[in-house]
Amino acid sequence: MSSVNEAKQYIKNIEKQLVNSNTKKTIIVDCDPGIDDALALLLLAENLDKVDLKLISSCAGNTPIDITTKNIQFFAENFFNGVRIAKGSKQPLVKKNKTDASDVHGLSGLGDYVIGEQHYPCELNAVESMKDVILNSKEKVTILALGPLTNIAKLFIQYPETKENVEKIYSMIGSINGDGNITSYAEFNAYFDPESFDIVSKCDVPMVINPMELGNETRIKKEVFAKMPTETIKDNFVKVLAESINETVDPTCICLYDLNTVLALCHPEFYEFIPCDIKVFVNPEIGGKTILEQNKNGIHAYQRVVDEDKLNKYILKTLFKN
Ligand code: RIB
Ligand code: CA
Repeated sequence: MSSVNEAKQYIKNIEKQLVNSNTKKTIIVDCDPGIDDALALLLLAENLDKVDLKLISSCAGNTPIDITTKNIQFFAENFFNGVRIAKGSKQPLVKKNKTDASDVHGLSGLGDYVIGEQHYPCELNAVESMKDVILNSKEKVTILALGPLTNIAKLFIQYPETKENVEKIYSMIGSINGDGNITSYAEFNAYFDPESFDIVSKCDVPMVINPMELGNETRIKKEVFAKMPTETIKDNFVKVLAESINETVDPTCICLYDLNTVLALCHPEFYEFIPCDIKVFVNPEIGGKTILEQNKNGIHAYQRVVDEDKLNKYILKTLFKN
């Protein structure tokens, strides 16, 4: 090849790399709002220069599916206008669950923040909507999972071909050492639907796990919100949400559970990612217990904060105007 052609090819390759590095990540968010889901979505709304948000789907978890669906309608209407949304599964994959986390997030899932009737158009089958987005996407799709993995397990079971076009699943779920927050041995999202987590973790789609320990460790004191301005819907929403969450680990704080999943994708510089294997227990006695075992050849990873000060400063500035 002549040196002119080589030079042209070299420039083409550089341009391609630049385009790739600047292209937005095509993403789907599956969530069970939930106050930390809501704050995580607001962080995502501040990072739409990095992502191409194709769908927000609701799952049952913190509160029942009709409430989490109403809450994603509110977000779509007020913070993500025009985004496609879809209603997810009412129940976990196997066990009929009576668990929820309304003691933490309130019966509305949004603490003391009151929303009226919602009319934002919502598709009625999240698995069908996810399949449609993924099979029609030119780029591989990244899934952000902020609740139990029921919808995603059902997607991979019903439409296994979608796995080929999913790049990664960032998921707030489980714990590193088998501890829990809803029981002594299980984190809430894993406990709510252990079978789904077990299935998804064995689908050869890389998972980036945001474990319970990270959320317990990264917290913001509620007193920070006292000085918050409340002129805009968003600021008022953030202040009321943050003040009304009832964290089991420390009622004077808000734990950054789901926020760490959004930031793992949008600001990975706050974390390190440890390659690992995932073990999910599904036997009834300890269903939802998880162990994340370090393995340098593992396809999965779990995140650990490397710069908590920078993380907190970013969240205070971006969400709490502090
Ligand atoms: O254990 C914390 C997780 O369970 C968070 O995602 C919270 O929103 C609940 O879904
Ligand atoms: Ca959640």
